[in-house]
Parts: sequence; structure tokens; C-alpha cells
Amino acid sequence: MNGKTVIVTGASDGIGKAIATQMKEKGYQVVIIGRSPKKTMAVGKELNVPYYVTDFTKLDEVRKLGQALKEKYPKIHILFNNAGGIYGKRVVTVDGFEKTFQINYLAHFLLTQILFDNLVAGHATVINTSSVGNSVLSKLDINDLNMEKKYSNTSAYGNAKLEGILFAKEFTKRYGNSGVSMVAFHPGNVLSNFASEAEGFIHGMYSFALRSKFAQRIFSMIPPDQGADTGVWLATTQPVKDWQPGQYYYKRKIAKPHKLANDSEVARSLWDQSEKMAGVVYPK
Ligand SMILES: NC(=O)c1ccc[n+]([C@@H]2O[C@H](COP(=O)([O-])OP(=O)(O)OC[C@H]3O[C@@H](n4cnc5c(N)ncnc54)[C@H](OP(=O)(O)O)[C@@H]3O)[C@@H](O)[C@H]2O)c1
Repeated sequence: MNGKTVIVTGASDGIGKAIATQMKEKGYQVVIIGRSPKKTMAVGKELNVPYYVTDFTKLDEVRKLGQALKEKYPKIHILFNNAGGIYGKRVVTVDGFEKTFQINYLAHFLLTQILFDNLVAGHATVINTSSVGNSVLSKLDINDLNMEKKYSNTSAYGNAKLEGILFAKEFTKRYGNSGVSMVAFHPGNVLSNFASEAEGFIHGMYSFALRSKFAQRIFSMIPPDQGADTGVWLATTQPVKDWQPGQYYYKRKIAKPHKLANDSEVARSLWDQSEKMAGVVYPK
């Protein structure tokens, strides 16, 4: 064990489980978070690591998780903000926010704020799992984060993945000197359950690919252990020296995100609205 603590959300399956497995193999003290109690316990036991069950559609559960991690792990060295997926018809959570936005982005914005001091203590790297969907699917209206005016499940997913990149940009602007580095990455088209609760084209594409080797070739699908590669590389190399905080990576290289990712007004507005929605204020 190298004594470094790694927290992975969405680690009960797919890319998060692969990241947790690879980080454990490299000697890190891994802590996993999942939604399904059964799946999360099974992965916790398989990897012999501590596990926490939290449903990100309930921000109160995220607050409890954050407090528990804050007390248990005074120094956090790596945080993977990875939980997420694409869903179906527009659903509003108990907190009043569009579900895709809340699970993929807002819950992680909240969790990162609660853990801020622990991340500073660990000179941490925070890695947001984004997606190529940030550029090809998003139709972000910064004045309608809950997509009340216009909703589709694909644009909700693209927006949430763009928000993960905007989070990394704005975090870097505000806390670049804090010792904490935040970055985003696309894992590739990974054979996983991430579209199992969706509908439409993306759901069809992933269901087909899970059954058909032919479809896997057409859509350049890769297994979760390969999808974990860029995330694990970011976690185990040096910010600034090996990669740039605030950027978006694919295959270990800087990739081009949606043009709004470079709009500093949009990033600031997203940050301000997120603080209000999550009911937190990051350190000034
Ligand atoms: N697969 C791809 O091609 C692809 C491409 C680009 C980006 N991504 C992103 O990669 C990340 C991981 O996805 P994956 O492909 O590994 O999918 P996956 O196998 O379905 O894993 C998703 C993980 O997120 C957790 N999760 C889902 N809803 C949650 C909720 N309400 N509260 C807490 N946790 C929740 C799941 O928990 P349970 O299993 O316990 O329910 C699971 O651990 C996601 O952010 C996804 O958007 C995936």
C-alpha cells in the first residue's frame, strides 16, 4: 500500500469498478461508492475495500456520504467523480432538479465542496468522467439548467458532461494554487450498463453492442478496463508536468470540447447557480 486514499463514485459497475480495481492493484487505499447496495457490497468484498451506498438523486444522501468520508479520511489524494449515465423521460428529483444533471454533475459539485479541505490536505487530483457527448449531444442553455423549456435525454446527458468540463475549468481558475487539480476525460465508447435506463438511439446502440460483436466493432466499443486507462493515467501522473488541470482528455491527450467549455461567463454562471442549488459555498 502506498498510503494514498482514492475515492471512486460509480464504482459498483463498469468504468468505476475498473478504475477502482486498477488503483487497488497499484497499491492505493481505495474507497468505493455505488448506488445499488447489492452490487456495491459485492464489489467491496471482491476488492476487499471499504464501500458506501449513496443514491445521487437524493442530495441529503450525498451530504451524509460527504460528512462520513470527511471524518474518516482527513487526507484524500484522488477523487474520481465518475457516477452517472443517460436516462429516459425528464424526471425531477426530490431536490427539484433534472435527474441527469443532478446525478452526473450537481451531486459531484456538492461532494467535492464537502471534501474540499481533505482534498487540499492530500494535494489531490479530482477527475471528472465526462464524455464525447459534451460536444456532440449538448445543447446547453445556461439559463435553463433543469431543462424545463426543452428536454431530450441525449441533450441532458451531453449538457451534464459539458458541465463536468466547465466545473474543471472554473475550479482550476479559482483553486489552481490550492494544490488541488481538477481535470475531465472521455473514456471512449465503453461496453457497460450506462445506457440501460435510457431510451432512444443511445439505448438501442448500447443494447445492440452488448449482444453483438459486429456492433462492438462498428461503434469502436472497448471493455471497461480499457475505458479506465486515461482516468488511471491522470490519477497516477503529475498535474502541470504530465497534464494540464482544467482540460478535457481522451486517450491521454488534450481533446477538443464543445466551444462553450471555453466560455468563462458560462463557467462562472454555472458555478454560481450550482452553489445556490446545492446549498453550499466554496471557500473564498
Ligand atoms: N459507457 C460509455 O460508453 C461511457 C462513455 C462516456 C462516458 N461515460 C461515463 O462513465 C461513467 C461511468 O459509466 P459506466 O459506463 O461505467 O456505466 P455503468 O456501468 O452503468 O456504471 C455507472 C455507475 O454509476 C452509478 N450510478 C448510476 N446512477 C446513480 C445514482 N443515482 N446514484 C449513485 N450512483 C449512480 C452506478 O451505480 P449502481 O450500478 O450501483 O446502480 C454505477 O456504479 C458515467 O459518468 C458515464 O456517463 C460512459
